[in-house]
Amino acid sequence: MNAPRIGGASLRATRPTISSRGIKRKAPRPTQPMSVHPLPPNPPVNPRINPSANTHPSTKSTPSQKRAPPKSELERFQERIRAERDARHKQTYHGISPRVLTFLGITALTISTYTGYLYASYTREVSKAQSLSIPTDVSDRYNTTAPTFDAEVELSEKAMRLGAKRADLVRLARGDVLEVSCGTGRNLEYYELGERRGVDAEGRATVRGCRTLAFVDLSPQMVAIAEEKFRRLRPGFQRVVFRAQDAASVSVVKAAVLGPGQDADAEVGKDRYYDTIVQTMGLCSMPDPVATLTHLGSITEPTRGRILLLEHGRSYYDWVNRILDNLAPAHADRHGCWWNRDIGAIVRESGLEIVEEKRWHFGTTWRYVLRPRQDRVEKAGEGV
Ligand SMILES: C[S@@+](CC[C@H](N)C(=O)[O-])C[C@H]1O[C@@H](n2cnc3c(N)ncnc32)[C@H](O)[C@@H]1O
Repeated sequence: MNAPRIGGASLRATRPTISSRGIKRKAPRPTQPMSVHPLPPNPPVNPRINPSANTHPSTKSTPSQKRAPPKSELERFQERIRAERDARHKQTYHGISPRVLTFLGITALTISTYTGYLYASYTREVSKAQSLSIPTDVSDRYNTTAPTFDAEVELSEKAMRLGAKRADLVRLARGDVLEVSCGTGRNLEYYELGERRGVDAEGRATVRGCRTLAFVDLSPQMVAIAEEKFRRLRPGFQRVVFRAQDAASVSVVKAAVLGPGQDADAEVGKDRYYDTIVQTMGLCSMPDPVATLTHLGSITEPTRGRILLLEHGRSYYDWVNRILDNLAPAHADRHGCWWNRDIGAIVRESGLEIVEEKRWHFGTTWRYVLRPRQDRVEKAGEGV
């Protein structure tokens, strides 16, 4: 058994030993004085600096030969912390703690359950929608949905920030203005009322604001709500008329510049054209949108007149269109709107000239500024 060492010195008793040559020698005495106090461990020896230092592993003293100095409270505490940290680290997966792994697992489970639920509901709705036989003309649905229309579309319009898009479009309206498919009047607040003449940045004469306004909608229930709203929102403006009419055959029904006591509806302007025609979210609801647009072009002032559209329809993406197509019959039956129409194709077929085109929301929201085809306008002018 090895004798214990204190401060690097052996405590073995000094007694004679016999060397290989048979000479009795005394075992060397400890070189260090014995001490009852623990000494710090020997500093590591650099063999290059002290070649006599024996660093061979076989001759090094084993840990059991040394007595480790007693550890202080702090050292023991630090050791325990280190051990706990090592144990924790061994339990992690790629360095991710069990708590985070549990959270991720629960999240993945919730998402997959919800996705499964959505998919099941979607396939159920698709098979229901495909079994329906819905006519192309679903515009009568608005007669019954009129009272709840605003409440139904409010949230989705807010989420899509459609209010700002309506405002940006409608503020372009100027002169004698017609809004078709006006519905419950969701654009009313954005019109600049009263015509103002001025000059633009390049010094050209400009006209801003609306001189007269006419609102038409096929549904008397919808147009009644729009009229009531207008009287409440813009009580001072008198040059306005409201009619339940088909946009496909609407005639020029301008409220004339009235004198005191005159009835706006009785005074219909004699001009043939409007300066601006506005329609928002209307092409989806009418049975023949191409013919309606072509007609609107025929009552738009030929050179400076504009048709302003904000519509919804097909997307840039096939996967979105597939969803729109699959659910279209059920949506049309319930809301009176075919949401899978190709608005771009309708506009091109109408024969109107595109001044500006923009799309948002995966391409499902379309904004157009249109005007009558200028080559046709010139030909008509030459024929006069
Ligand atoms: C989706 S709502 C849009 C209402 C409104 N323009 C808006 O932006 O909230 C469609 C409207 O088009 C009207 N409509 C459908 N076919 C029409 C037609 N041929 N002529 C005029 N209005 C029509 C419906 O009565 C309904 O009010």
